[in-house]
Amino acid sequence: MRMFFKLTVRAVSCIPCRLYSGGRPPAPLGGRILTHPEDIFQHNMWDHVQWTEEEREKARQKAEENSKEKIPLEEQLKYDREAHKYWDRFYETHQSKFFKNRNWLFTEFPELLPPDTAGMYIPEQGQSSGLDSCSESGNGEKHQPCGSSTLTSDMDTFPGQHAAFRILEVGCGAGNSVFPIINSIKGNKAFLYCCDFSSRAVELIQEHPDYDPAVCHAFVRDICDTTSPFPFPPESLDIILVVFVLSAIHPARRAQGVVESLAGHLKQGGIVLFRDYGRYDLSQLRFKKGQCLSENFYTRQDGTCVYFFTKDEVHHLFSNAGLEEIQNLEDRRLQVNRAKKVVMHRVWMQSKYRKPYLISGSV
Ligand SMILES: C[S@@+](CC[C@H](N)C(=O)[O-])C[C@H]1O[C@@H](n2cnc3c(N)ncnc32)[C@H](O)[C@@H]1O
Repeated sequence: MRMFFKLTVRAVSCIPCRLYSGGRPPAPLGGRILTHPEDIFQHNMWDHVQWTEEEREKARQKAEENSKEKIPLEEQLKYDREAHKYWDRFYETHQSKFFKNRNWLFTEFPELLPPDTAGMYIPEQGQSSGLDSCSESGNGEKHQPCGSSTLTSDMDTFPGQHAAFRILEVGCGAGNSVFPIINSIKGNKAFLYCCDFSSRAVELIQEHPDYDPAVCHAFVRDICDTTSPFPFPPESLDIILVVFVLSAIHPARRAQGVVESLAGHLKQGGIVLFRDYGRYDLSQLRFKKGQCLSENFYTRQDGTCVYFFTKDEVHHLFSNAGLEEIQNLEDRRLQVNRAKKVVMHRVWMQSKYRKPYLISGSV
């Protein structure tokens, strides 16, 4: 069942004032605000759209309807156990053509841009970094000095050990964020790690002409396996990028452990950047009966799974892992099919959580 809102010409002129949200800054989450209802078909997307109570209730009912029948537990376990195989098949079929490059990446997450590293101490080969990078976000906000995040590890050498600024992307897929990041960090004493549990996805990254082992290390890794080591020490990362990946993981059984394990690899002052599907997004309401695994968690026809988050759930996931909120937003947009004169509600979550600094000497 499709959750389209058909707008006739008459309906367009009646779009209620709820769509006006006026005067927001261009970032975060865009600044294209629909102030004149008659303009609705001028653009493909409008930002900061508020839902009416009626729309919210209608969406709730649709989700309730499509999740009445749950997939039997036996079958559910198969989706969990064989998740990497479904994603491998996905990349075998779509190669790197399915997801678009994340063009919003640096506007929404300027923290990904390496700080000016001039004058930073870069340790010699084999030395641990006594003075790790102190990151500064691109929006001008300076991070606190990261002096106490000394690398203590059994690893003598690891890829990216000389970098002053280290980023990890988990569930990186075919590299729609990886390549924009590689291009932005070259020559900046920064290093990108990226992993996915689909070996096909990682191959696509490694075969890409822009893949450069001098600034990037791509590896196969199931982030639900919280016991195997990463190819870098704990407390060594400035930024962890988690984009449309936690939604693919069982919300109750696995997600919390994953976030805690990732948090352990952040330096003090390091930040997790998160973007994912939000509750009652169009794609949730389009699911048919018989595709629901558990509340708000579904499997697609191809066997990959997707969860739809609320703000509170995101907050609990990250704060239970000891991280503090910088941003936790619901990104509500109106997507417009101008040819068919149809509008659709999209909902995404966007959040930033920081690992607190330990204040030495406090009792
Ligand atoms: C929706 S795609 C998003 C890909 C990429 N982050 C992007 O935004 O284009 C989800 C990705 O997460 C990966 N993934 C899902 N569960 C994973 C897990 N447990 N460990 C590692 N990667 C996982 C999938 O293989 C897939 O590449």
